[in-house]
Amino acid sequence: MSKRVRKAIFPVAGLGTRVLPATKAIPKEMLTVVDRPVLQHAVDEAREAGIEHFVFVTGRNKTVIEDHFDMAYELEDTLRRRGKDKEYAALMADLPEAGATSFTRQQAPLGLGHAVWCARDIIGDEPFAVILPDMITLPGARKTRCLAQCLEAYEEHGGNIIAVEEVPMDETHLYGVVSVKEDFGSAFEIGSMVEKPAKGTSPSNLIISGRYILDPKVFEILAKVEKGAGGEIQLTDGMKTLAETQKFFGVRFDGRTCDTGSKLGFLLANVAFALEREDIAPAFKAELKKIMAKI
Ligand code: UTP
Repeated sequence: MSKRVRKAIFPVAGLGTRVLPATKAIPKEMLTVVDRPVLQHAVDEAREAGIEHFVFVTGRNKTVIEDHFDMAYELEDTLRRRGKDKEYAALMADLPEAGATSFTRQQAPLGLGHAVWCARDIIGDEPFAVILPDMITLPGARKTRCLAQCLEAYEEHGGNIIAVEEVPMDETHLYGVVSVKEDFGSAFEIGSMVEKPAKGTSPSNLIISGRYILDPKVFEILAKVEKGAGGEIQLTDGMKTLAETQKFFGVRFDGRTCDTGSKLGFLLANVAFALEREDIAPAFKAELKKIMAKI
């Protein structure tokens, strides 16, 4: 039987250069989609999937992330004194349990593989999730978000899990790509993995999309991985070595994934998430229709 996955790593030490100047003084993970920071959406997904401990790999200029997951006494006191009970209750509901968060610093943004490796001592010897918080997800027909579907596949197949999504073949050179070895429907065994394949060489149009369940053995491997694509220590390179001795499964998430790390993706995420909100959607749709009529 597979060991339970209790901890998730959120690598949040990147520079967010694709959304400058917004990210000059604000971490990109703290930009808001509707009224919640992008990172809060990712933590919501992890909590819903049953994750108990949230490990943030941060960098300089990111202390606001720690503050967001702490109490804000003055604010909370003011809300209570003003009778804003609903707002106060909402803040309390989002607050992680004391001791359920850990923060470590990457020191220099040497790549996603290096960021994950920085959390090795906090994770220890147990399987763990990795959530790229700039990818945020909305449930589809199965009514669960991406990490919950990855954990379901992990319970069924064990091994290591990677969430994937389809892109047009001529965009595959921008991503990590996997191929299908044996298909089980919503999940499949992965044959090969390649980071940013040269145009015309991609093994499929299935890209790695920002949710992983990994065996802790990957830490030993990442410690030895050489710099790869883009001069960074790539998580995909570490996973490729792990795949020589362990199985990897891909999960086709049935909902919607929004990449908030680019300007267009960030705008689309705001639209997609606003349209799912009962309190905002009716007025938002009406305004959108007015804008669309003028385009
Ligand atoms: P990205 O490549 O999307 O983030 O990495 P970035 O480097 O911030 O983006 P741009 O290209 O400059 O706009 C995916 C995730 O991995 C984290 C990022 O914070 C993001 O959440 N990351 C990336 C790290 O924590 N450390 C790194 O060295 C690189």
